[in-house]
Amino acid sequence: MKKVALFLTLIILASASYAAFDKKITFKGKTLAPTVFDHGKHMAVKGTTCKACHPAIFKQKAGTSKVTMAAINKGKFCAVCHKEKGKAFAVAKNCAKCHVKEGVY
Ligand code: HEC
Ligand code: HEC
Ligand code: HEC
Repeated sequence: MKKVALFLTLIILASASYAAFDKKITFKGKTLAPTVFDHGKHMAVKGTTCKACHPAIFKQKAGTSKVTMAAINKGKFCAVCHKEKGKAFAVAKNCAKCHVKEGVY
């Protein structure tokens, strides 16, 4: 019985931290401004779970997924959703939405 209670508590704690997960990941560009991936803004999209991205699209350790623009342009990584008629704005023509920095893109 105690074990069950502990298990349930852990689930409740896990789901609470779930909604609040807002870690920002910075992909350092070489020629363009860095791209910041914001967990908080993505988790705020209704129906999004960690499994939408982990582990199928991205590894759960910053800098290990080998994300490149060439791969994105082939429909991988961010472009699984960021594409024409996808869940989010398409990559083409929206460079500055991801490569954000005052006055630069
Ligand atoms: C959905 C977000 C997103 C959009 C939109 C996007 N990119 Fe990227 N881009 C990335 C990510 C993530 C990387 C990986 C950054 C790195 O190299 O560390 C990247 C990397 C790059 C790089 C290589 C790194 C550098 O700074 O030289 C270039 C060049 C690039 N993007 C150009 C573009 C252009 C041009 C567009 C518009 C047609 C565009 N990107 C739109 C996310 C995006
Ligand atoms: C829309 C896609 C997406 C969703 C949803 C998502 N993540 Fe991530 N996550 C990423 C990306 C992108 C990275 C960076 C991967 C890389 O750099 O290789 C990342 C990295 C991480 C990291 C590594 C952080 C570090 O500093 O090493 C953790 C931990 C993580 N995510 C946990 C979660 C959890 C927990 C959830 C659900 C609450 C979640 N992610 C949902 C895209 C996502
Ligand atoms: C599982 C689907 C999914 C993946 C994968 C994904 N996104 Fe998004 N992203 C969304 C949705 C949905 C929105 C909100 C709708 C919109 O803005 O078009 C969004 C919004 C954004 C925004 C605007 C909000 C903000 O944070 O300022 C940026 C920038 C962004 N994503 C960058 C990225 C980058 C960079 C990657 C890859 C490292 C990525 N996304 C991967 C689904 C995704």
